[in-house]
Amino acid sequence: MRDAGVGGKRVLVRSDLNVPLEAGGVADDTRIRASLPTLQLLLDREAARVAVCSHLGRPKGEDPAYSMQPVRERLQELLADDRLQVLENTRFNPGETKNDPAFARDLVDGNDLFVEDAFGSVHRAHASTVGVAELLPAYAGLLLERELQELGKLLGDVEHPFVLISGGAKVDDKLGVLQNLGGKADAVLVGGKMAEQLRDDNPLPFDVVLPTDVVAASEFAEDAEARIALYDDLPKGWLGLDIGPETRETFAHHIADAQTIFWNGPMGVFEWPRFADGTKAVAEAVARADAYSVVGGADSARALTELGLEDEVSWLSTGGGAALELLEGKDLPGVAAIPAASC
Ligand code: 3PG
Ligand code: MG
Repeated sequence: MRDAGVGGKRVLVRSDLNVPLEAGGVADDTRIRASLPTLQLLLDREAARVAVCSHLGRPKGEDPAYSMQPVRERLQELLADDRLQVLENTRFNPGETKNDPAFARDLVDGNDLFVEDAFGSVHRAHASTVGVAELLPAYAGLLLERELQELGKLLGDVEHPFVLISGGAKVDDKLGVLQNLGGKADAVLVGGKMAEQLRDDNPLPFDVVLPTDVVAASEFAEDAEARIALYDDLPKGWLGLDIGPETRETFAHHIADAQTIFWNGPMGVFEWPRFADGTKAVAEAVARADAYSVVGGADSARALTELGLEDEVSWLSTGGGAALELLEGKDLPGVAAIPAASC
């Protein structure tokens, strides 16, 4: 977009303003703040009007609970400019997720050019991410460019030791990344539900470091009876809901030695405070490491933010699924739709 002549032009921007909501307000504005540099640059360069669009949540048609109003208000607090507009949730129109050309035409109507800046959504081939890019001159925004550069470093030659840390519940989503990147990692540390699955059956052509001890719980409940147990001594019927102290130390040693780190996914049921310490220990170790460190995914990002460590990593990605698909080596439709992007 730095090369686009935007003076006097009407610009449509796709940002990822899909933020968590709570009590009718914005619960975390990270993605809104991450979208500001692109909007600011367009305004500084005298764009006549900047219309920002995004999806919010997964509404089934029009639904006031998913209105963009709270997002609009927060954005206007952060960047007040009469030329800036926030359009209504793109997913209120059923044409959005079908990449319906008629909806794409509605979106581009009255605009001269398009800027794609929604890194978190470029893995979706939707009207606002792909359809519009085929109707207007399309450019990559600053956040999209930076995300591709930072995450892209992991796809090229990396400095070793390269430590890959993976956790969380969406096991199948993450196996692809391990398959693509795990072979070039010197250590692959696995926690969370993913560890259970790989312990039973590891389809990967390399070894992974699994937890030796866990925070064991008598049932899957926030207030369950809990104690530290060696994995091999887990009482029958009990569940490991976090990595234990011995595992935290093992993981921290690997992380401290690393020159390159990618971390995605919590080590346990991080939303329950009694099972959050393992994830926090990993967050602290990654923040402390003197390495090129990239963190992706909402829970890992939240762990860092809650500890005030979000600025202590090299790159905190705004993408969850999009970051994973990029690192899996998949094509991102919203990037492929931008003619000049050769990423
Ligand atoms: C995300 O939060 O992962 C992106 O905004 C994409 O949202 P989606 O998974 O509902 O398409
Ligand atoms: Mg997602």
